[in-house]
Amino acid sequence: MKNQSYVWHPNTQMLEWLKFPKIVRGNGMWLIDQDGNKFLDGVASMWCNVWGHSKKELVDVIIKQTKKLQHSSLFNFTNEPIEILAKKLTKLSPGMAQVFFSDNGSTAMEVSIKMALQYWNNLGLKNKTKITTLENGYHGDTFGAMSVGYVPEFFSKFRTKLFSTVQFPVPNSYHMPNNFTKNEFTDYCLEKIDKKLCEDESIAAFVMESGAQVAGGVNIYPVRFQKQVNEICRKYDVLFVLDEIATGFGRLGSMVEYKNQKCRPDIVSFGKMLTGGYLTLAATLMTKKISDSFLGRFSEMKHLFHGHTYTVFDEGKKHHIFFRTLGNIIMLVPPLAISKKEINLLIDGTLDTIKGITRLTK
Ligand SMILES: Cc1ncc(COP(=O)(O)O)c(C=O)c1O
Repeated sequence: MKNQSYVWHPNTQMLEWLKFPKIVRGNGMWLIDQDGNKFLDGVASMWCNVWGHSKKELVDVIIKQTKKLQHSSLFNFTNEPIEILAKKLTKLSPGMAQVFFSDNGSTAMEVSIKMALQYWNNLGLKNKTKITTLENGYHGDTFGAMSVGYVPEFFSKFRTKLFSTVQFPVPNSYHMPNNFTKNEFTDYCLEKIDKKLCEDESIAAFVMESGAQVAGGVNIYPVRFQKQVNEICRKYDVLFVLDEIATGFGRLGSMVEYKNQKCRPDIVSFGKMLTGGYLTLAATLMTKKISDSFLGRFSEMKHLFHGHTYTVFDEGKKHHIFFRTLGNIIMLVPPLAISKKEINLLIDGTLDTIKGITRLTK
């Protein structure tokens, strides 16, 4: 018999699951289903939850903010909560200058990969395009994230569509190859990385999870490994890109795991526990060196080519309207519940904006 639910559950053989417990509420560390059965949340709802479920302080601030403003795009607008959060994150993360927000860990990793690739392009070094990674890394389920974090059981079906990366073996404290001590194998892995980065100038970035590989087998790196990879990257001018989505924000004991690993990445991403597991949000932070390379006149096309819905230009703002342009196309997509009067205002404002721009560019 087939599951009768309309919901297709992630990574689940739907034929084998006839019925899922229906969770109706959460309380502290417990999830409670419709029949009153309690389940201790041993995976923190996919490693996200920090303070437990239905924590009053968190629920209250979410309600308070929701009553004021639910979502306002970061495409050329800003808002106070996001400014406060970005400042806090950069203060917390040594070396980081700015934050790019997205809505889940996989997209945060897509952002870091694109940022790293475009960094070199912006500097005019167009041959620096290769990404290096570790075997068994996991960075999410979107195509870019799958490409840099190849776990064979998860991704083999999509292999032909993933972009190629250079992968290195990773020391795994629990499974050393025969005849190697942990130290010897760590050195062996580091030497391989050093050799490749030394001989191949087209390597743009090295992407790895910070502190441990989680989904790919729960492998806590030997103490010096990550620090030494960082040093090799610095030696050969390769960007060091860390993924702290599963390991940052306290999961391995420190808020920022790379501090604990004595590292200085160029780009780092956080997700999951960033919101205590209550809202979907991820953040990609970068150093000033990276963010500065994206500055220039708009026409130079150096700005980051990435943006998500849940993340106008100036002339439009003068007329108190907010819209998107796609090249020379102006896109008006107002809320469906907009009134006729507001539609007219929107059209008038758009026309005034077009007039303003044509005056400016004449
Ligand atoms: C290290 C790491 N990076 C990225 C991701 C992807 O995050 P998300 O599932 O929010 O897309 C995960 C998810 O488990 C992860 O463990």
